[in-house]
This record gives sequence, structure tokens and C-alpha cells, in this order.
Amino acid sequence: MRYSRALVKQVDFQPVMPRRIFVTSALPYANGQIHLGHLLEHIQTDIWVRFQRMRGNQVIYVCADDTHGTATMLRAEAEGITPETYIDRLRADHVRDFQRFQISHDNYYSTHSPENRELAEFMYNAAKAAGRITTSSVQQLYDPEKKLFLADRFVRGACPRCKTPDQPGDNCDACGATYAATDLEAPRSALSGATPVLRESEHYFFDVAPSTELLRNWLASSTQPEVANKLKEWLDAGLKPWDISRDAPYFGFLIPGTTDKYFYVWLDAPIGYMASLRNLLSRRNDFTFEEFWDANATGTEVHHFVGKDIINFHCLFWPALLTVSGFRRPTRVHVHGFVTVDGTKMSKSRGTFIEAGTYLEHLRPEYLRYYYAAKLNGTVDDIDINLDDFVQRVNSDLVGKLVNIASRCAGFISKQFSGRLAPSLPEPALFDELASAADSIAACYEADDTARAVREIMALADRANQYVAQAAPWTLAKDPDRAPEVQAICTQGLNLFRQLLVYIKPILPAVAEAAENFLNVPPLAWTDASTPLLNHAINPYAPLLTRLERAAIDRMVDASRATPSQAQPVAGLATGTDDNKESNVSEKSTISIDDFAKVQLKVARILEASAVEGADKLLQLRLDLGDHQRTVFSGIKSAYDPANLVGRLTVVVANLAPRKMRFGTSEGMVLAAGPGGSDIFLIAPDTGAQPGMDVT
Ligand code: MSP
Ligand code: ZN
Repeated sequence: MRYSRALVKQVDFQPVMPRRIFVTSALPYANGQIHLGHLLEHIQTDIWVRFQRMRGNQVIYVCADDTHGTATMLRAEAEGITPETYIDRLRADHVRDFQRFQISHDNYYSTHSPENRELAEFMYNAAKAAGRITTSSVQQLYDPEKKLFLADRFVRGACPRCKTPDQPGDNCDACGATYAATDLEAPRSALSGATPVLRESEHYFFDVAPSTELLRNWLASSTQPEVANKLKEWLDAGLKPWDISRDAPYFGFLIPGTTDKYFYVWLDAPIGYMASLRNLLSRRNDFTFEEFWDANATGTEVHHFVGKDIINFHCLFWPALLTVSGFRRPTRVHVHGFVTVDGTKMSKSRGTFIEAGTYLEHLRPEYLRYYYAAKLNGTVDDIDINLDDFVQRVNSDLVGKLVNIASRCAGFISKQFSGRLAPSLPEPALFDELASAADSIAACYEADDTARAVREIMALADRANQYVAQAAPWTLAKDPDRAPEVQAICTQGLNLFRQLLVYIKPILPAVAEAAENFLNVPPLAWTDASTPLLNHAINPYAPLLTRLERAAIDRMVDASRATPSQAQPVAGLATGTDDNKESNVSEKSTISIDDFAKVQLKVARILEASAVEGADKLLQLRLDLGDHQRTVFSGIKSAYDPANLVGRLTVVVANLAPRKMRFGTSEGMVLAAGPGGSDIFLIAPDTGAQPGMDVT
């Protein structure tokens, strides 16, 4: 025992001013459903927030959807609805999913809001008045048919190095070369197929460099050391002006004083944190916007939780922009790593790109909250969900250790003592031992090291289980004379259980709530771990959590593989990338039936198939189209052994203009579907089809 009980209690009476804390999670893009990656971040944030609230601190936790950009515009267009309708619909889905995972946002708003427009304009004008906005001319590929400038991911063409056709505008999937979209050979717009042209336009820039020294100082104390070190490389290399404008058409906010320039989505996205707060405070008056954001705000804190992919935005541009426009800088940016499943990146083809909704059809949210908590340790290391370990961990810790204590003790109290706990503890020292862990566990939560908090809590759960096992109330219960002992032991057991609940409540709020009902107590606060519950009537026990079956996980993985919202469009391209930022959007708008009628599809038989020397992905196919033969190069090598293709029927785009490649000329394109890798599926007509037949 490290502390006496008296000492523990005394600590509680020290007057402490509650901290006033503003907390955010990064704003999910309005381009798809919430998935396990977003959930890692929101669960991490929520645990921290709930912990602070249990400690008596005053927390506001907000988020919003990040709605602006070309992608939103194109998606809405593809669905034939307005961007506003599109983002409203997704926002409703996001709110629903987060609520079901018990994420306690106080407000979940949208960056497409009047508050955000006003704040973005204000900050821009302030930066301009400070001489930090510059303009200069930028050359960019432009789609003359869609009439818009093309971001790199919307340009495709042959790799300038290995000549593999149909590569994205930033790097080659076949040889790994990185290049500018303007370096692609035979480039075309992924939106219209048109050949893009170079066009010049004026862009607006935020001059970040004058903030270099300020950022250097701020970084040293405001994020994890590995993040600060990474960003120091940027500072040392010299900060370039940051391009904050995009040309019309764009879904976003017009830049004041212009008629065709919009704020780049990343300019107004973090401002969305403030806008969400302001929107919330229009309905509440217990806090003011200024107490959090004034340049000289004291006594309040601002905490952002973000993934490691967006640290430059949060730890360079954002604090610089805030400072220039007269606001305070964040107290801390908490950075986490990326979710992997069974050691690899979440993948649609493997069924491990799991959406929140799909998860909830098969598993309880507590399992994921607990597993993430058990893995998150405050570093930026990636978090691997090993599916076998997931099952094992949840079952042995939550069901086997935690809940087990209550289920072993509750029945006796209910049945033999009409629900009444004993008036004193038989082992106060053991109670004190658990009470004395409060500070250490609290320190873990504070530092985002929930993995360590979980380890400490589970070690205490082991102690509690040992106690119950040794005291064996089930043996004593056979002897009516020893009833008081049974009541005392079970009272001790339930009190230890209650202490563990206090400690784990930030992670498992719904389990804690069910247990509070069972224990017949008001919501547990952190200090409740130091005072026992005695001579008190509890309610009958109902199981708090059940075992997780591996079969349920397998069903979830199967269902994720089939989720229609993730199906790749059928195309000869087979270019699916898994979970790529922003490329995770449909890059095709609709085409008319007349456009489609132009595509001539024919049945072909593969006569010969062989690998192409020097090309990682390509097979050379000799095709029989009934009345003639052709050679086609196809990027399906990762999925097919050429020997197995010979003799098979497939479908070919017969009127595609021949394309000259390094290895020869490709006379058409065979159709395949799938996300890539070994999951590319050649489209095959039913047997009976003959080479040369039109596909109608
Ligand atoms: N909209 C921007 C954030 C703007 S904040 C002012 C964005 N959106 S996102 O939807 O792509 O990602 C939102 C958050 O989820 C980011 O912090 C990102 O790091 C996190 N994650 C998205 N996928 C992830 C994993 N696979 N694993 C862990 N977190 C990842 O970025
Ligand atoms: Zn290449």
C-alpha cells in the first residue's frame, strides 16, 4: 500500500480550479462514410474528453464535416443533386455513426456555414492587412471540356519513365516514379477524357515564412517530440508561401474582393473548429468564444487531435494563420498514427476497409473502443488491429476479468441479502491499494497513454479476481452461519469492481452507465474510487458484456468486401487505390447514353498471353475478334498467370484509338473490374459467346 486512505481523501479536498478546455477531432471529409480510421481518432479524443470531465474539468468537444472542394462538387453533380443536399445527407450519416460509438461531441457542424464564412473572411482580411497575402501566376493543367483546373489526381497518362499507360498525375503505380502531372505522356482528364491544356491563372498565397521562429518555439512544447522533429525539417528547409486559392468552379467560399477565386479547402477547414464552437455558443452561455481564442487568453486550453498525415496543416499553417489574425495558438496538437488491419493498410479487396455502419451490424462499439484504448500509447506509431488478438483481448480482459468480478459477487448480494451491501469492508487495505492507483492511471490518460492505463487497470482487475477466488464466497455460502462473511466478501468484490469502473469509464461509458444502474449510484466521478460504497442497496445484476465470437468478425469482413458504396466502377483501368486521401472519391461524373453508345464492345478470345519485359503490371495479349486479330496491353499481370488466360473469352473496347507504348502499340482495351493487386477480374461473357460478337 503506497498511500493511507486518509491521505487519498485529503488530496480530494485540495481546492483545484477546473480547467476550461476546448477539444477537437479532425473534420472528416464529406466524401464517404465514417470508417475505422476516423473512429480511432474520435475514440482517442473522446476518451481524453470523458476523462477530463470525470476529473471535474469543463470541456467543450466539437467537430464538423469538411465539405469544400472540387470533389464535393463533382460527386454531387454525379448524383444529380446540389452540393448542399449531398453534404447534408453525409453529415446526418456521420452524426449517427459517431453517436452510436458514444462519441460525446457537443456539436457536430459543417464547414459550409455562415460562421465559418465570416471567420475565414476575417482571418484572410487580417492576414492581408498584415501584408502576408501575396499573389502570383501558376501554370496548371486545365480540362477544356469540363472547364476546370485539374488537381493531380484528376489527370492520368503514361508514366514518363516506364511508359505504363493510365497512371495518376503524381506517381506511377508500375515503377514508382514520382513526377508532376505536366510530365505525363498523352495526359488526359480523368473527368472527361479530354486532353488537358496548360493554363495560367493567378493564385493567392499566405506567406508563412515570417512565422518560422514563432513556430519553432511553439512546436517545442505543443506536440509530440517526433512530430516536432519532423516539422523542423520543413522549417529548416524554409517555408514556402502556401497556395490558399482555387479557381472557379469550386464548392467553397469566394475570396473577398474576387469573383472567381475560392479559399482552398484546407484554408477554411481548421477555421471550422472555431465556427463549430461559435455555433454551439450561440445556444449556450456558459463559455465565451473569446475566452478560448483571444490572443492573450489565459487559463483556457485548446487541444486538437489529428492523424499524422495532416500535421503540416495543424502545426505550421494553422498556428501561423491564427497568430497573424490575432488569435491564440493551440495548447497542444495530439497526433496519432494510422490504423492497419492484420498488419496491412485497410483494404477494400480484403474486406478490412470497414465502415462504422458495417462494424455496428456485427459487433458492439465497446469492443473497438477498448481495443483502440489498449493500443494507443501517445506516439504516432500505427495501430494494428490484429483480428485474432482483438477477439482474444476483448474476451479475456473485458469479459474474463472485468465483468467477471461483478457477475461472481452480485448474485449472492441480491439473493441472500436482498441487494444490501455490508456496512464495512473486510479488506480495506486492498481497497486502498486500488484507490492509490488513481493518480498514476490519471497521468496515463492525460498523456494519451491509454495502453498503459489499460495495463494498470487490468493488473488491478487481476488482484480483484484473485481476492474473490481465494475468498471463494460460493463455498462459504453453503454454510448459513457464515452468511455475514459472504456478504462482506461480495461487498468487497463489488467495491473493487466499482473502482475499476471509475478507471475504465472514459473508455467504456455505456458499460459504466449500465453498471451505475446496477450499483444504483449516480454517475461515477474520478474521486469515487477513493470512497467505498457500503450499507447500500443495489439492483439485480444483468450481464454487462458478452463474449465476442470470431465468426462475427468474419461476417463483418465479408460484408465489408461487398459494401456497394465501395465497389469500384467497372473499367479497363482497374486503378482502385485503398483509402487514399481525397482520391477516395468517385472521379467520374456521369456520361449520357449517347456517350456510352460510342463505346464499341466486342467479345474476344485470348489466343496468346505473355508478360512484358520491363513492365511490372502489363501482360501482352493477342486477341481474336472473329474477323481479325489484335494486340492489346493490359495492366492485369498482378492478378493473372498468362498461361491461364489462353483460350478464355473476354470483352474488349474495340474502337479505342490505338496507343503507342514503349513495348508496342495497344489496339484496344480489355475490361476488368476490381480494386487492384490480385483482385482484378477480367470481364468474361457467358459460354456460347463467340469472338467478334457485339456486346449490347
Ligand atoms: N478533412 C481533413 C481534416 C481537416 S481538419 C481541419 C481530413 N479528413 S479525413 O477524413 O481524410 O481524415 C480525418 C481524420 O481521420 C484525419 O486526422 C486522419 O488522419 C484520420 N484518418 C483517416 N484515415 C485514417 C486511418 N486509416 N487511420 C487513422 N486515422 C486516419 O484529413
Ligand atoms: Zn512508371
